[in-house]
Amino acid sequence: MAPDSELVADRNLAMELVRATEAAAIRAFPLIGKGDKNAADGAAVDAMRAFLGTVDFEGLVVIGEGEKDNAPMLFNGEIVGTGHGPKVDIAVDPIDGTSLTAAGRMNAISVIAVSDRGTMLDASSVYRMQKFVTGEPGVGVCDMSMSIKDNLTEYARAAKKDVTELLVAVLDRDYNEDVIDEVRSAGAATRLLRDGDVAGGIQAARSESRIDMCIGKGGSPEGIVTACGVRALGGFMQGKLAPRDESEIAAGNKAGLKFDYVYQMDELVNSDNTFFVATGVTDGPLVSGVRKKGSLILAESIVIRGKTGTVRKIFAEYQAARWL
Ligand code: FBP
Repeated sequence: MAPDSELVADRNLAMELVRATEAAAIRAFPLIGKGDKNAADGAAVDAMRAFLGTVDFEGLVVIGEGEKDNAPMLFNGEIVGTGHGPKVDIAVDPIDGTSLTAAGRMNAISVIAVSDRGTMLDASSVYRMQKFVTGEPGVGVCDMSMSIKDNLTEYARAAKKDVTELLVAVLDRDYNEDVIDEVRSAGAATRLLRDGDVAGGIQAARSESRIDMCIGKGGSPEGIVTACGVRALGGFMQGKLAPRDESEIAAGNKAGLKFDYVYQMDELVNSDNTFFVATGVTDGPLVSGVRKKGSLILAESIVIRGKTGTVRKIFAEYQAARWL
């Protein structure tokens, strides 16, 4: 039987996108641990954009590097790709963990998420979002409107674990202190993340990972990127916008966003046809960081495809002489 042409286009897209995250990670490689996060991010953005320009699709950047005036490329609203092939929404984070990269710390990744056109929530006018991510046991069980303690109890019952066995990832920030206290007083353990709650959220949604949940505030754009991966994995996610001031409330209202409102997964990204692609910049539990070995540069990526739920790990060997 001849393969469905739409299916083929989708498959090719996932494989093409991974080249863009690989390129971003490789270009950032010489800047890992060099103390300049803007230089690392700039190198990753340039590389990602150059590769995206060659991909057969029409990608509308819903989550990018910010407003056009402040971001010369990959800005929100920009169209990327050759213009041939599927029309999609795209969320990019050339490096999630720019400070981690500059310091040479673990857990920085380069990420792209994609969904059908018109299905990604543009939450970028409000900087932070309260997120709640779990794997499949939390579906139909967890709910942000319950207390953290009740969520842990119900999740533990569904996952056939004791609450004391649960490991909850939270960004290590003053603004998450109450969340951290609640998790611990319920008897569960925390994995505090210095940065990088996209990787934390994806780990929470993966069944073989040690992390059961990723909760607390973090970036809103990162929340939408995470939602594409979590949805593809069949996990659970909700988000609630956490404005920092009146101007964000005004901007959010103008953009049609809702406050004091729990966004369900299908409101964060309203499509089963999502892709999540990430390449390791520095080492982490999700993917190893990019490294040089002899004449080769080694890059490890993960590709998650929503239509099928397939997760692929891709190991690439590049000729260092052509890149560095
Ligand atoms: P950067 O790559 O921009 O440094 O972001 C890393 C990150 O930790 C995200 O993973 C997270 O969602 C966000 O920053 C939280 O931002 P903030 O600490 O400013 O609230």
